Amino acid sequence: MKFFVDGTDIEAIKTLSSMGLVDGVTTNPSLIAQSGQKITHVLEQICAHVAGPVSAEVVAEDHEGMMKEASILTKIAPQITIKVPLTQAGLQTCVQLRQKNIQVNVTLCFSTAQAILAAKAGATYISPFVGRLDDTGSDGLALIQQIVETYQNYPTLTTEVLVASVRNVHQIVTAAEIGADIVTAPAPLLLKMLDHPLTTAGLMKFLEDWKKTGQTIA
Ligand code: G3P
Repeated sequence: MKFFVDGTDIEAIKTLSSMGLVDGVTTNPSLIAQSGQKITHVLEQICAHVAGPVSAEVVAEDHEGMMKEASILTKIAPQITIKVPLTQAGLQTCVQLRQKNIQVNVTLCFSTAQAILAAKAGATYISPFVGRLDDTGSDGLALIQQIVETYQNYPTLTTEVLVASVRNVHQIVTAAEIGADIVTAPAPLLLKMLDHPLTTAGLMKFLEDWKKTGQTIA
């Protein structure tokens, strides 16, 4: 499964990248707002450190406006992927950008019906929001399962399932068990996957026992 970092923290992205955990980055208008920086500056910084796809979301609500914004955003770097919402204008923009061979991430997906439309529009990625569905009492991971199974009926379909809005390690692991193509998660959550008390305790015991030998390796 590929890991994308969902966020704009360059130092965190560099740390995860050094561990081989960054296949791409996703941003959205809220994350850009939280960064307190201009979107072009944030994206330039990220693209300077990430070779994989970097999602940049349009904020226009009409097709013409989305196309104008996409033409500006794609000039930032070749790895820029345009994020569009699951709306009529978003799907129209997806179709047109894909005809120009520009990668598109269709976001704010909350149903399999929407995921089918995004695939029909040629989306490079579909982003179902697991956490926000769970927040409403629905089962976000069940949606991932249904989308993955539905897409598998059409082997020529190339849209990748990019699991988004994840809140915990269980959601990431289950998405992998289901066979989702990608998960995008905040850097701290990806790092949290490392944590296990038995690993910490086991390493402490190894080093204690090693100290008793009085040996050094280097
Ligand atoms: O990429 C979408 C993701 O950032 C949304 O996450 O936590 O705002 O639901 P969240």
